[in-house]
Amino acid sequence: MNTLILYDSKFGNTKQIAEAIGGSLNPQDHIEICHVNGVNPNQLKGVEFLIVGSPTQKFKPTKAIVDFINGIPANGLNGIKVAAFDTRISIKDVNSRLLNLFVKIFGFAAEPMAKLLKRKGGNLVVPPAGFIVTDTEGPLKDGELERVSAWIKS
Ligand SMILES: Cc1cc2nc3c(=O)[nH]c(=O)nc-3n(C[C@H](O)[C@H](O)[C@H](O)COP(=O)(O)O)c2cc1C
Repeated sequence: MNTLILYDSKFGNTKQIAEAIGGSLNPQDHIEICHVNGVNPNQLKGVEFLIVGSPTQKFKPTKAIVDFINGIPANGLNGIKVAAFDTRISIKDVNSRLLNLFVKIFGFAAEPMAKLLKRKGGNLVVPPAGFIVTDTEGPLKDGELERVSAWIKS
């Protein structure tokens, strides 16, 4: 399968998840792992599986990721498998009631990315997933890289 794993990453944690996904897919697939900068929607030609990842920033995916998905023509993902993941800070680790409330209301990046991908015609093949960082700059929480393979194959 021709697979594109597209990610944004400020501190490298989302990139690490993207690479772990790449490593857990069938080695016979054609897999490209690309930072969102420098990729444009024309490069989706021939892609059969598009996996998009973003750090959660202000409860959302980054602007670069949203701009990329919005730049895909209407129905441009028809017949294409899609998946979305983010990195995020665990609500359990946030000691602020107000922030906890905001998180409950506004959520994280993966779900809105999945919605946008589906709106372009994509066939969501796994539920949106979040991978936990222990602090803003990381590192990823122990065990998160190991969860990747089970998720993408779920
Ligand atoms: C400006 C900014 C806003 C952030 N907002 C959130 C947030 O709303 N929810 C959350 O869980 N984490 C938030 N974080 C933490 C990021 O999710 C974390 O930095 C990211 O997962 C690290 O991934 P990266 O190394 O790929 O950039 C924020 C981080 C930054 C820098």
